[in-house]
Amino acid sequence: MDSIWRRLRSNRTASADRTILSLFDDPARFDDFSISTDGMLLDYSKTSIDKDARALLVELAEAAGVESHRDAMFSGERINTSEDRAVLHTALRNQNGAVRLDGRDVMPEVRATLARMARFANALRNGEIKAADGGPITEVISIGIGGSDLGPAMGVKALGAYHDGPKIRFVSNIDGAHFTEASKRVDPARTLVIVASKSFTTVETMINAETAKSWLGTRAQSQMVAISSALDKTTAFGIPPERVFGFADWVGGRYSMWGPIGLPIMLAVGPDAFHEFLDGGYAMDQHFRHAPLVENMPVMLALTGIWHRNICDYPTRATLPYDQRLSRLPAYLQQLDMESNGKCVTQDGAPVSELTGPVVWGQAGVNGQHAFYQLLHQGTSVIPCEFMIAAEGSEPTLTHHHDLLKANCLAQSEALMRGRESRNMRPCREFPGNRPSTTLAYKKLTPFALGQMISLYEHRVFVEGVIWGINSFDQWGVELGKEMATALVPLVRGGDASDKDGSTQGLLRALDAS
Ligand code: F6P
Repeated sequence: MDSIWRRLRSNRTASADRTILSLFDDPARFDDFSISTDGMLLDYSKTSIDKDARALLVELAEAAGVESHRDAMFSGERINTSEDRAVLHTALRNQNGAVRLDGRDVMPEVRATLARMARFANALRNGEIKAADGGPITEVISIGIGGSDLGPAMGVKALGAYHDGPKIRFVSNIDGAHFTEASKRVDPARTLVIVASKSFTTVETMINAETAKSWLGTRAQSQMVAISSALDKTTAFGIPPERVFGFADWVGGRYSMWGPIGLPIMLAVGPDAFHEFLDGGYAMDQHFRHAPLVENMPVMLALTGIWHRNICDYPTRATLPYDQRLSRLPAYLQQLDMESNGKCVTQDGAPVSELTGPVVWGQAGVNGQHAFYQLLHQGTSVIPCEFMIAAEGSEPTLTHHHDLLKANCLAQSEALMRGRESRNMRPCREFPGNRPSTTLAYKKLTPFALGQMISLYEHRVFVEGVIWGINSFDQWGVELGKEMATALVPLVRGGDASDKDGSTQGLLRALDAS
């Protein structure tokens, strides 16, 4: 692969003076540098990738074995080597045939769990499941953190136009303010509490779960539900098996919204819409498995990422959905991307030879335009921007809003690329331009489109991880902080901190509330 990296860098150096705009001298540029599948289009023509660079990037993907790694993932090999686990979240949305793990088809179990979720969701939504006092359940509080929160919270918000079930609130932070605010003016008599934790040991979730249990009082017996892989722990917590939705260890936390962790989404929009979401994920899986690399949306989005991170040395990328209902997507993608690819050693434990995951950040457009776009346009760092926009809004009576939204989205990618010379203007009004972006255009934010989108990003992260030679499915980097927090609890309560560094000792003194 070394020679491909070298040739990519030479391509970049040789084309350093060429603008992105000049690439459109080729009238076929847009058609040639965009990919469509099932009503979704990825435009990567506003980047500095030319035909030669693209051919080299595809060669890089081939040399890294993207196709064989992809097939290994889908066929249940234990590609998460540090945890000795298969990576089969795609089975949760599989619509066709068996998915074998160690020779056993996991699909009967997946389908049975989905059917149980649907029965529960229907019964809650139509009032068959009642609160302890025999009255209706109208509110849900979902407790979880990381992958047990970001996916369902993002998904419930994204599908707001389809939300006809109970009101759903999310609590993740160990800060007592989160539960307090979420439960303010909420009647515990009318509330179902979901505790979502793959491990059922995550401190933040367990503390919030205990607080919720006390808040519910005796109602906790019947008004709590658990979602977890650790069924012994859910029983020990006091939630009977009939109110526990289990899932296997081959579903990683940040890849888990397709199964039981997605229950809040199903409660909000109903089983049919949730199935459409799964259909969208599956459609993108099929595209990823079968489209040639150069016509493959996740692969080309990943290669655009590789180009920007490794060849152009851009340290961050901005996620900019021009879709208010996707306002939690940047936070969701932050975990998906940064927890997966923020690694400095390869699968074999050797130091990586190339820079890995960029900082992923962003906000819904247009709000960001009035906050940080100044830096995107005129700052000293170039930040590749990843725009997203629907052809059609979800507000039939407010189509004029959507026209403005679209115009703003298109204006930003054009302005970033085109820039503006100062001519007779003062330099502060000059825009350097030549700043890259991609745009993901979809027909409408339907459950199907959301499924396609999330699957697209999962596979993009996977392909980048394969090229960097890292394990995108573990997260050892979160452990040290957790251990130290546990050890610090007694010190925060006044214990002996003499073996701590000077800063930590000083901060403990400053934070002493007594
Ligand atoms: O701390 C990181 C992490 O392990 C994530 O990977 C995971 O999504 C989150 O914590 C929550 O874990 P759990 O679902 O086990 O509570």
